[in-house]
Amino acid sequence: MAQPRLLSGIQPTGNLHLGNYLGAIRNWVNLQAGHDCYLFMADLHAVTVPHDPALLAHNVRKVAATYIACGIDPQVSTIFVQSHLPAHSELAWLFNCITPLNWLERMIQFKEKAVKQGENVSVGLQNYPVLQAADILLYEPDFVPVGEDQKQHLELTRDIAHRFNHLFGEKSPKGSDQPLLKVPEPLIQKAGARVMSLSDGSKKMSKSDPSELSRIDLTDSPELLQKKIKKCRTDPQRGLEFDNPDRPECHNLLTLYMLLSGQAKDTVAADCADLGWGQFKPLLTETLIEHLSPIRVQYEALMADTDYLDGVLRQGRDRANTVASLTLERVKNAMGFMKPL
Ligand code: TRP
Repeated sequence: MAQPRLLSGIQPTGNLHLGNYLGAIRNWVNLQAGHDCYLFMADLHAVTVPHDPALLAHNVRKVAATYIACGIDPQVSTIFVQSHLPAHSELAWLFNCITPLNWLERMIQFKEKAVKQGENVSVGLQNYPVLQAADILLYEPDFVPVGEDQKQHLELTRDIAHRFNHLFGEKSPKGSDQPLLKVPEPLIQKAGARVMSLSDGSKKMSKSDPSELSRIDLTDSPELLQKKIKKCRTDPQRGLEFDNPDRPECHNLLTLYMLLSGQAKDTVAADCADLGWGQFKPLLTETLIEHLSPIRVQYEALMADTDYLDGVLRQGRDRANTVASLTLERVKNAMGFMKPL
């Protein structure tokens, strides 16, 4: 029996941080044993807002090295670069032609990002979710693990698949019992894995926050980890607790400690109930260093071995292409395109 298939991706727009790890990559590593995983670097999405051409390729390698350093096994899972498969752009174009404009005008993330771009907001930013639908539907995954913020994009993907099947499904060579495009299920990561900013416990930890001290990168040295925890925002109360809405920083730091140390919430709550910040911070620092050091060491080794890393991405592209090219061909046939001569 074939394993259920899973697909997800991250935009290569800078260093990956603890939020990417605890909210996404770590779950993929855990799912890897029972699933056929397709994991990619969404570099075509990274250019929907202004980007630096001198950094794009480097950032793609950085994300690939981070996946592997965190435990994604390239022999088991397929790791690839989105732009290495023209099928993504091509299917996105075909979907563009059947997606009503008003579906895209409703997208919350577009509205939020568009505000920041002012007059220069690109057509690509508006189209972003259509490209994401192509990324997903090309591989016929059963599940798409994403964070809460991507839920609307997953719903749009499902709407596009349904619409496409409705418009062109009858010509499906697979027969009428199987839809032309498989409609995937979102796998929304639970809220416990939401990692908040170190400078403001009510905001998400983010690659785009201008303050480096607001986030923990997976490749931070022990010295830097120590400094960031020392400087992170706390409150004047003694005793630590989960789930107090007036103490978002306290909840966030305890959650980090819980997730990284692998202890149950009750245990952490009991052990930390009487601790002051001066006692808790060294404990958290120690746990962070212990957990992240092996990842950093492996990451650095991979970044120094470009041949190996590029070999992984070449193999990933070839494997991905065997799946993607079949779906694209089926779609083009169903739409009635002339076969290439
Ligand atoms: N939009 C996703 C994000 O920013 C990245 C992404 C692009 C993605 N294509 C995807 C995630 C397909 C899952 C599946 O997080």
